[in-house]
Amino acid sequence: MKILIISDIHGNAEALKAIISKETPVDHSIFLGDALLSGPQANETMDLIDELNPTISIMGNHDEEVLHPEHFAHWPEEWVALNEWIIEHLDRDTPEKLAQFKRPGKYDVEGQSIFLHHGDLDKKEGNALPNATEETFLKLDRSSGCPLVFFGHTHVQFSKTIGEQTYINPGSVGQPRTGKLQACYGVIEDGRYFARQVSYQPDKWLSALNAIDPLNSFPKFKDWLKAGLLSGYGIGKNDPWTQFAEQGYN
Ligand SMILES: [Fe+2]
Ligand SMILES: [Fe+2]
Repeated sequence: MKILIISDIHGNAEALKAIISKETPVDHSIFLGDALLSGPQANETMDLIDELNPTISIMGNHDEEVLHPEHFAHWPEEWVALNEWIIEHLDRDTPEKLAQFKRPGKYDVEGQSIFLHHGDLDKKEGNALPNATEETFLKLDRSSGCPLVFFGHTHVQFSKTIGEQTYINPGSVGQPRTGKLQACYGVIEDGRYFARQVSYQPDKWLSALNAIDPLNSFPKFKDWLKAGLLSGYGIGKNDPWTQFAEQGYN
């Protein structure tokens, strides 16, 4: 029995392709959210998700934004221009597919109960990062009784055991924030969990970004996005993410 766990693809089809070619076939796959925004390969990414056909997909904050663009209306203009272009060019049935993504909760896979959450918490509750308090992890799930809680959103690959529960972040497929150009994910094989990484060629991602015309009005932003991908610091080398790179996290 093999179960693939992926999260935070962010419109990076090259990264997802590398995982699929290394790990499939699988019996099940679980996707923890943030499929398309704000990456340049949204349609290619959705095609790969369709191919993988996850047993369960959880709604991420950036999936909500596709369905409710008013959520990003107050962002800086370059981000709004990028997101609007991506949404405008989506295949017609994509929003409907994203709308099917599930809410956080207890799910059953082959008779085993697992708790799934995108990982986004209210600001005051903090981020579920390796240095977070136990209370932050307990905000994801404290009462399901599931031995495994999978979550994403913070883009750092790690796990933390509190009492009887282990909280596992498989890391980010398409937008790592730990200084390595690689796709991160997890696999459960015969009941054991393994955190894995695979490297990939970013060329097609870079070409896709170059083809987004509105970004020509924001050349510095475009260069910053490219540098972010190539350096493995997704949305910039800012705290609180860099400390985890230095500590060896993927
Ligand atoms: Fe994300
Ligand atoms: Fe997220």
